[in-house]
Amino acid sequence: MEKFIKNETIVKNSYTVENFSADGFCPEGARRELEEKYRPILEVTQKFDRRSVSYQLSKKEALHSWLKYKEGFSADLVNILLDEMGAVPGDTVMDPFMGSGTTALVCRMRGIDSVGYDIMPISAVSIRAKANVMKYDLSEIKRLIGEFSELQMPEGYSGRTPYITITESAYPEFNERFIQYATDAIASGAYSPEVKDLFTLCMINSLERCSYTSKDGQYLNWDSRSKKVIEANKVRAATGKKPLPAHCCRKDIGNIKEAVLEELTHVFSEIKRIRSAGEPVPQAAIRFRQSSALFELPLLREGELKGVITSPPYCNRYDYTRTYALELVYLGMGEKEIKEMRQSQLSCTVESKPKLEALRKFYTEIGAGKRFEDIYAVIRSDPAFGEILTAMKMRKANGDLNNDGVIRMVEGYFTELAFVYAELYRVCKRGATVAFVNDNVRYGGEVIPVDYLSTDFAERFGFTPVKVYCLKQQKGNSSQQMKKFGRVALRKSIAIWRKD
Ligand SMILES: C[S@@+](CC[C@H](N)C(=O)[O-])C[C@H]1O[C@@H](n2cnc3c(N)ncnc32)[C@H](O)[C@@H]1O
Repeated sequence: MEKFIKNETIVKNSYTVENFSADGFCPEGARRELEEKYRPILEVTQKFDRRSVSYQLSKKEALHSWLKYKEGFSADLVNILLDEMGAVPGDTVMDPFMGSGTTALVCRMRGIDSVGYDIMPISAVSIRAKANVMKYDLSEIKRLIGEFSELQMPEGYSGRTPYITITESAYPEFNERFIQYATDAIASGAYSPEVKDLFTLCMINSLERCSYTSKDGQYLNWDSRSKKVIEANKVRAATGKKPLPAHCCRKDIGNIKEAVLEELTHVFSEIKRIRSAGEPVPQAAIRFRQSSALFELPLLREGELKGVITSPPYCNRYDYTRTYALELVYLGMGEKEIKEMRQSQLSCTVESKPKLEALRKFYTEIGAGKRFEDIYAVIRSDPAFGEILTAMKMRKANGDLNNDGVIRMVEGYFTELAFVYAELYRVCKRGATVAFVNDNVRYGGEVIPVDYLSTDFAERFGFTPVKVYCLKQQKGNSSQQMKKFGRVALRKSIAIWRKD
């Protein structure tokens, strides 16, 4: 650790990008300038590690482990950032991309009010179930566990849990039927809304491991034992094609009844443990709306927030509406709603369509048309952003992008995030601190310094750049890019800005 800190310049060098454009193919001057400009505030740190910016640490934490949400960051990280920003009870902290609700829950435990959004109903279930930790009637949960374990699905039961095209035949026969049977039984049972929510949380936590699918960032991976793959292979065989590569999501596909029971037992023991700790848990307010941050932030009044702690979707093509399709369908979403939700995500997939005109219309309707144009003018005139878009187009023309949707994604991603930064500046109080966790990315041999480009936008909207924490562990590149362009390590960062 000491050695690591002593050689700060050497350390910083290995976290500074030398060549943004592989083989010097595209202009890179504006990105180099940013690299120079923000190098003094780069802090390579061991305060946070890969585990604290991911779900790894939360797995071990009471409460935060309740929803298995791989994209979440840890309570540890939120606690450190809250300390650094000096947030105290009475303050309000925002997370515009709530996910499992880590920021909101940690704030609540410290008596700090929070506000935030997420487009997915999974967030709503997670936040409600966790926020109720001090409210549950323990004997009711015990009764639920007892009655659930006694549930016997009748032989001829013909109900099945709903599906959409991408989740069809995701479960073995028994699980597909039992999910529906148990859901109806608990919904019509004599339980409080809080306990029903807790049951829903335990059910959504169990779906993946009781299915033939596994989450893989961009898509759902399918097990070769699933009907879907078996049928697809029959068609392939008939047309002389090779079968799909054998794939095993997990050795044993879980039994849904056992999995839910395990989840219920786990949360029940956690609730008892948290309660028996005997410390009074401060009860601050959580204001959550299942909605897009892009269309909520412009409605907030100025100067309300003490700080922001968040991690938006990364610019990495990961599609939450595909990887969480089982859970979304379970929560009642159909084909059409999921497609719509896919488009309301921050542009982070190659399928994302531009939202600029919808945003312009919205700002005009709320009487903020000028604000829209002012923000957009800043975005359009940013030299580094312009350079990145030019580089993407040159790479496309050269056949270096494996999907043309990447250009639209990159353009939409930063345009939308820049609107978020501008609005956050407006709704923050003087002295407020904003922390954004994100990863740098690389497409077609072009490095996109997400941390510095974001800091650049933030500064143009009025923030003072304070620090860019960079984790010791950097990120690799896709194997395709490594082969074609060589390796460039990519920073995983936490950008910190202040409204002075
Ligand atoms: C990286 S995750 C946040 C994880 C969170 N920090 C946690 O600890 O669980 C990003 C979240 O942004 C949400 N999201 C995507 N587009 C959004 C939008 N337009 N408005 C609000 N949330 C959005 C996704 O559904 C996802 O839950």
